[in-house]
Amino acid sequence: MADERVAIPQSFKDARITPERYRQMYERSIAEPAAFWREEARRLDWIKTPEKVSDVSFAKDDLHIRWFEDGVLNACHNCVDRHLETRGNKTALIWEGDNPAYHHAITYRQLHNHVCRFANELKAIGVKKGDRVTIYMPMILEAAYAMLACARIGAVHSVVFGGFSPDAIAGRIDDCKSDFVVTADQGVRGGKGIALKDNVDAAIERASHEVKAVLVVKHTGANVKFVAGRDHWHHELALEVDARCDPEPMAAEDPLFILYTSGSTGKPKGVLHTTGGYLLWAAMTHEYTFDHREEDVFWCTADVGWVTGHSYIVYGPLANGATSLMFEGVPTYPGPDRFWRVVAKHRVTTFYTAPTAIRALMRQGEEPVKKHDRSSLRLLGSVGEPINPEAWRWYHEVVGEGRCPVVDTWWQTETGGHLITPLPGAHELKPGAASFPMFGVRPALVDNGGKRLPETGEAEGNLVLLGSWPGQMRTVYGDHQRFYETYFSTYPGTYFTGDGARRDADGYWWITGRVDDVLNISGHRLGTAEVESALVAHPLVAEAAVVGFPHEVKGQGIYCYVTLNAGLEPTQETEAELKQQVRSEIGAIATPDIIHFTPSLPKTRSGKIMRRILRKIAEGRYDQLGDTSTLAEPEVVDSLVEGRKERL
Ligand code: PRX
Repeated sequence: MADERVAIPQSFKDARITPERYRQMYERSIAEPAAFWREEARRLDWIKTPEKVSDVSFAKDDLHIRWFEDGVLNACHNCVDRHLETRGNKTALIWEGDNPAYHHAITYRQLHNHVCRFANELKAIGVKKGDRVTIYMPMILEAAYAMLACARIGAVHSVVFGGFSPDAIAGRIDDCKSDFVVTADQGVRGGKGIALKDNVDAAIERASHEVKAVLVVKHTGANVKFVAGRDHWHHELALEVDARCDPEPMAAEDPLFILYTSGSTGKPKGVLHTTGGYLLWAAMTHEYTFDHREEDVFWCTADVGWVTGHSYIVYGPLANGATSLMFEGVPTYPGPDRFWRVVAKHRVTTFYTAPTAIRALMRQGEEPVKKHDRSSLRLLGSVGEPINPEAWRWYHEVVGEGRCPVVDTWWQTETGGHLITPLPGAHELKPGAASFPMFGVRPALVDNGGKRLPETGEAEGNLVLLGSWPGQMRTVYGDHQRFYETYFSTYPGTYFTGDGARRDADGYWWITGRVDDVLNISGHRLGTAEVESALVAHPLVAEAAVVGFPHEVKGQGIYCYVTLNAGLEPTQETEAELKQQVRSEIGAIATPDIIHFTPSLPKTRSGKIMRRILRKIAEGRYDQLGDTSTLAEPEVVDSLVEGRKERL
């Protein structure tokens, strides 16, 4: 039903960006980018206003991306200090605990006080401008203080999602040579404690790089080990340090943060974002996509460990002086109505979540939603994976009472913020369509042979971006060559997203999913290569191949084909052990859904694993296996198909 459309509601007729305004601004952003971006840059407070706008080359020998390079600013000042005069008593952050009895709100003035002290604590343990600080935190306000404190003193934060394992933390500490870690005694999710400090201790032991100091926030009061001289309590240091800390003037292109994300090969990459362009992009997209208004209560349900939390819990909303809600818990605790209970309690106006959560809650029926007052809601957002039209409609009709537009925002860790999304006052909505490019963004399609497809009319292919935008990542930390190889070598001259897309006859963009070996599990990105290397690290495993398969709630599930060493017979224990192996190497989000033991894998005569066939078998599309005659042992395929059928 390509023509199913939802009109712009009356309540958005006076939105910041109307259909006419979108057209004008988009055209200007492409035709006169320098003038457009110079104007947009005024949304930030600059210590030195930039004269230069951009200097970009995607060429192999000269890959560089610079925006506003002669500008000087401080990201923390922009998110905190500059609001003090007019919004000092406005709520900056609302914290809602895992336990519904706990909540807490702080004003911009209080935020300023907390962040300044936190920044001085970081200085007290030895952190200097340019140092990398690993942040491994639960969803508590101190996670935001820590990020902003780093930004204030010019340190580069690397937030590691609290669900990652000690091995994963260690890998990230080593990769960016981080001398410092900020963590908490414990996190809490769904009523269960998560031993964050213990994980950090284990990670530090395993890391090759030596961590000099750990700053620990007391959250649950759990007993934790302390290493004298290395570990420091935040609440103790906070009493010792000064309440004043001047923000460090930073060049626009100075690094703001590193965030590790999975690719189709090797270890996760450190995506590097810099100060001016990233902050501008986070603030601008937060304002336009969510039609931000001063009185909004904005709730993004992501974890700060992912880019969504960076851009739409912390940097975007706070740069705009918004009230941003941070939720410690999970959608289903203590009951399946938790999200809506929180919406009613804090009078949330703008709610931004992932399709996986919507699908999970949809299964619980309408009652948990309908029993709470959602009259405060005016806009809904979706992020992280393609949203199926059925989930879209449920979100729109049941959650939003048919009244709230749904913005399906397509973007990536690499892009800093939204690149393709409807704007609620500018576009009629089509369920499941990411719709139209943000200002300055030029999407295009290329076929597998590298040929550019026509710029108008219906087309489907690999999604690339022509040219840069301020929020684009600048490099892979410590590996500029890999930056080129990953994003610019496939279709030279363009940024390759790794996604497939379709443009319909009305010019709407639809994201069809990854076209590389990256999985999207509940909106979390995971490389098949990472899961494979965790599996083959087990002494019993000879070989493993991992693919995705459609999963009703998670979007994609993890399907592992495993060959054990010669002579070994798989048992239930082996299966449990392998699942545990992956959890401990990566984290719970990477737990395999299916382990399919097989005596061999389909390979070409030259020994290459035929992933295409494995994918089709995992998806249950046995009629689409294609030509299997080139395989070294074609009969393997039949036995895999049999095995798959048994597991359905
Ligand atoms: O495949 C796309 C999917 O998530 C990938 C980016 O993952 P990550 O860097 O972890 O960032 C997630 C939050 C932005 C993309 O390459 N993706 C993200 N948003 C959408 C999406 N796919 C379809 N529709 C979306 N709205």
